[in-house]
Amino acid sequence: MDKFVIRGGNPLLGTIRVSGAKNAALPAMAAALLTEEPVILENIPQVRDIETTRKLLAAMGAEVELGYGRAQHRTTICARNLTSPEASYELVKQMRASSLVLGPLVARCGRARVSLPGGCAIGARPIDLHIKGLERLGAKIKHEHGYIEAIADRLEGGEILFDRITVTGTEDLLMAATLAEGETVMQNCAREPEVADLADLLNKMGAQIEGAGTSTIRVKGVSKLHGVKHRIIPDRIEAATFIIAGAMTGGDLNVAGCDPAHLGALLEKLAEVGVKTRHTTESVRVMGDVPIEAADIVTEEYPGFPTDMQAQYMALATQAEGTSIITENIFENRFMHALEMVRMGANIKIEGRRAVVRGPSPLSAAAVLASDLRASASLVLAALVAEGESIIDRVYHIDRGYENIEEKLKGVGAQIRRIGEILPKRAAAPAARA
Ligand code: EPZ
Repeated sequence: MDKFVIRGGNPLLGTIRVSGAKNAALPAMAAALLTEEPVILENIPQVRDIETTRKLLAAMGAEVELGYGRAQHRTTICARNLTSPEASYELVKQMRASSLVLGPLVARCGRARVSLPGGCAIGARPIDLHIKGLERLGAKIKHEHGYIEAIADRLEGGEILFDRITVTGTEDLLMAATLAEGETVMQNCAREPEVADLADLLNKMGAQIEGAGTSTIRVKGVSKLHGVKHRIIPDRIEAATFIIAGAMTGGDLNVAGCDPAHLGALLEKLAEVGVKTRHTTESVRVMGDVPIEAADIVTEEYPGFPTDMQAQYMALATQAEGTSIITENIFENRFMHALEMVRMGANIKIEGRRAVVRGPSPLSAAAVLASDLRASASLVLAALVAEGESIIDRVYHIDRGYENIEEKLKGVGAQIRRIGEILPKRAAAPAARA
């Protein structure tokens, strides 16, 4: 398994470019299942979850081209001949967002067999709300051998009220409703920009969706959707991660190709803690040459402070003057990065869903372990300011959602390199018998 070796102490200077949003690209690729015509998606990030989704769709019989040439970062998906509307445990256990194929498959093929996701590092993460919503649209659900089977000759529009806000739940049912008979009204929906981007794609494909990005979405079912070309929105979490990196390292970093309108909660919080930023419509410049004050955060659904930014904010809070209380409201086990930061010298106490961070603490380099995608990103941030050379193991977690992060950070002055698994030398093959 690859590791990162990072020597801390360099301020990040210059321009770092943001890739397309992983969490917009995944539902967009699943949406291609809704039509037999080719769907072309541009600005696709070159990350592991995209490759996993390619395998998932190809295993169903879809043709998936994925190109990362200079100008490309594009995928063309044609789901004309779907042979097996299934998502295997093998692939779902690698990426729980595979549940996003459930709605499209039932809507397009009349049936779907999707493995339940099983456990995840950051919490239970069930998909009961996805299933309940499909039943409201008339699907018959069977749960056996660790798989969900959903059957419906044709889904019927209906009323869905989510017990709690779910991003992929909203996306899954939004896709299912586009081909249902009649109108569907979904309430208590997720309002993330990725939901709005998916609705934008679906409407270009001929769907009739109103209200995406608000908590009530109306969908008038149509009989068919057609192919289209669509550009994925920039990754707001990657952008936010780099903005925090600029603030923590005392740099002057221009984060380009992002959408500041998606970063409201973070920019608000950075202003509160004294970090100076200036933004245009597609970039944020962060000037980190000021002392950082402590401030509390509570993670909430969008437009609140994103849970996917909690670990990165914790890294910043270790360098802030004073006590920051971080409350994680979305997932039940999303503080694993804290104990790794404590090993680097941070002063963090976990009390249930709250982490109490006292700063500033000078961090010293250490060998640390990445546990999930955003936790790994926060350990990179901590290592960028730690004194000495840190080693971060299991960086395959970070490769799931950050494209080429070591090259991008090196490009703005970070001392970071990737080392592959140092495999034991293979014993020399025994000499052939005379
Ligand atoms: C999406 O996951 C994101 N993934 C996550 O990003 C993100 O952390 C999360 O939304 C919250 O913003 C993608 O978009 C691919 P949820 P999702 O359904 O949809 C509970 C990353 O780092 N819940 O909004 O799976 C659930 O357990 C990833 O890129 C149910 O109880 O999250 C959680 O406590 C990590 N039943 C809460 O709702 C359900 O049926 C929010 O989960 C569904 C969810």
